[in-house]
Formats: sequence, C-alpha cells, structure tokens
Amino acid sequence: MTHTHNQMNFKPFELEYIQSKWEQIVDFNLTESGVHPISTLDLVQGDESKITELLGTELNYPHVNGNPELRQNIANLYDGAVWDKNVLVTVGAAEANDIIMKTLLEPGDEVATLTPTYKQVWGIAENMGHTVRPFHLRPETGWALDIDDMNAQVNEKTKIIAIVNPNNPTGHIFTEAEMDAVIKAADRVGAWILADEVYRGAERLREDETPSFYGRYERVLALGSMSKAYGLPGLRVGWIIGSADTIEDVWRRHEYSTITATMLSNHLAAYALSEEVRPRLIQRTRDYIRKGYPILQEWMEDQEGLFSYTPPEASAVTFVKYHLDINSTELMETLCREASVFVGAGDSFGMDYHLRIAFGQEKEVLDEAFGRIRNTIQRLQG
Ligand SMILES: Cc1ncc(COP(=O)(O)O)c(C=O)c1O
Repeated sequence: MTHTHNQMNFKPFELEYIQSKWEQIVDFNLTESGVHPISTLDLVQGDESKITELLGTELNYPHVNGNPELRQNIANLYDGAVWDKNVLVTVGAAEANDIIMKTLLEPGDEVATLTPTYKQVWGIAENMGHTVRPFHLRPETGWALDIDDMNAQVNEKTKIIAIVNPNNPTGHIFTEAEMDAVIKAADRVGAWILADEVYRGAERLREDETPSFYGRYERVLALGSMSKAYGLPGLRVGWIIGSADTIEDVWRRHEYSTITATMLSNHLAAYALSEEVRPRLIQRTRDYIRKGYPILQEWMEDQEGLFSYTPPEASAVTFVKYHLDINSTELMETLCREASVFVGAGDSFGMDYHLRIAFGQEKEVLDEAFGRIRNTIQRLQG
C-alpha cells in the first residue's frame, strides 16, 4: 500500500477495512454481526400516514443531541436514566466509542480491554499513543472471563476498562459474578467502565435482556445502537448513557466530530424504539438468530472434528476454532476469492485459527454459503 499522507504510525481498523474491501463484491457476506436489515417500508408496516409524515419531514438539523422522543425511548431501556440528562444520541456506536475515548483519555493513561473483541476502542487507544492491556475470555471455559488475568492487567494507570457485553465475536454474556468482578477491578483503581452493549436485546437462549452496567457503578459509560438488536444499521444511530456531567463532556466532542445524526434517522429510531414497535423488532432479530444458529451448528457437526466452538448466548455471530493449518486471514481471503463467501478472520479480533461466522440470514442463503465454504475447505484439505 502506498500512502500520500504521513501514515507511519497509524494503524487502520483492520476489521472494518477488510469489510469495506470485500463486502460489496462477494455473493455472500457472512460478516454482519447484526441480522438481515429491515427495509423502511417493513419498519413502518406500510402505514400510509407514517409514510406521509416521513416524506413531509423538513430535513433540518434535529436536536443535535437526539430528539426528545428518541432520548426518552432510549432512557426507558435503563433503570434510573433520565432522558434530558443521561442520554446523548450519536452517529452509531462507532461515534460513541470514539468520542468517549477522546473525552476520557489523558497522556499516560492505559486501557484494559477484553479479548477477543471488536477492536475499535483498542485501535483508537493505540493510535492516540496509549498502552492497551488485553485480558481474556477463555475458549477452554466456554468463553468465561479470566478474572485473574483481568485483575493482573488493571493497574493504577488504567483509565478505562473496555467491555463488549454481550460479546462480539463470541456471543458470551457476562454472569453476575463476572460483572461484579469488572466493577471491583474498576473501583480498585478508580477506572471507568466503557460498556459497549450493542448486542443487548439480541439474546439467543434467554428471554430477559442482558443487564446493563449502567447504574451499577458511578463511572460507567454504556452505549447502544440501532444496528444490531434492531436490524437498522443503515440508520447510523447509537447512543451513550452516563452521568449528567459526563454526557455534557462527550457532547462537546460530538460537536466536533459529527454535530448530529440526521433528522430522518432520529424520527425512525424514535419510532423503532417506541413501546408499540420495539418488541416486534426484537422478536424479528431473535427469530433470525434462533433459526439461523441451528443451521450453522448442524453444518459444523457434519464436518466431524473440523471445528471446536461454544454456542453463542447472544448476537448473530459465533467464533469457531478450525483445525486446519492455515492462518485465518489467508483462509478468509481464499474463501472470498474462491467461494465468494466472506467471513471474519480470527486475526481481526485478536485470535488466529478462528473464524467469525454470521448466521442472521434466511436458510437458503446460509445453505448455499456454507456449502461453498465446505467445498473450498475440502480442496484445502486435499
Ligand atoms: C461491539 C460493537 N460496537 C460497535 C459497533 C459499531 O456499531 P454501529 O453500527 O452502531 O456504529 C459494532 C459493529 O459491528 C460492534 O460490533
């Protein structure tokens, strides 16, 4: 790669970079951690008056911190959150993570992050010159948090403990004991917990939603998004929940980065999170996840001994170890080129010899895509 700018010390966000490269070219994109997106028409269920209202919306700036109805509907998802004090609407969880890092980190601060994980926070911290100390979810214990490892990585310099719960890529949901351990570690050194909870609502095995870190400890910034549990990634709406003064501080960063999400996305997100509509979207997401996963599992079982895995508790992806002597990025690229099927490489999440496979699609799509992966793997096995 040749660069026209000084990129010497800059590390690209590898997962998103690889996705931009392949996702529009391949026949089957199995890297989406959310389920198949819903259309605008299906979202409003063909409701003529809603459609007329949407088309008549003036495309002005909305409330730049999120329109009141949207903030109210978001606040309703958290015990004790107040809509006009504790909520900031952002352009996706992506902006939320970015401005939180810029607000909290000062020179010399360290970040402790769980791994494997979505490496946005990790990459931002490194690009800002901070030391990042990973601690592990362990495959050998069904992706349980290694609490001793975490405690060893959190020290007096740790400003942020970054968590993705439910986790991407493993689908692990923290137990109460794991949540308590994270809070205890943060409290010991006065660190913040950055709780990325974008998969909350996308549970596969349980009906109750994953509890938030918000309200359990003073220095928590929790975030959510329309992209995963609601099937609306194209809205580009996310949010941050936190104490009133911290929300003010991150808002000051939001003004520099994007000013605001759009008027239409504020309207549509408020509608999607309303009491009447939200349960339908959560059910739709869970239906995809609950129907898709058994198809993947059966396909993996069919190839005896090739894969080891712990079934995901939430999200539309799972992180599986493959027993082949080939690097995960190489395998991912071979599958893109030969099978036109795109899956996530373990390397992108900090763990080689794994693939992150998405299953939140229709059965016909999964059957065809998995069949093609099998053909390529059989060729690789000789
Ligand atoms: C854990 C996690 N956080 C944040 C994001 C970004 O989400 P958004 O579309 O809301 O910007 C993703 C997307 O894959 C994710 O998996």
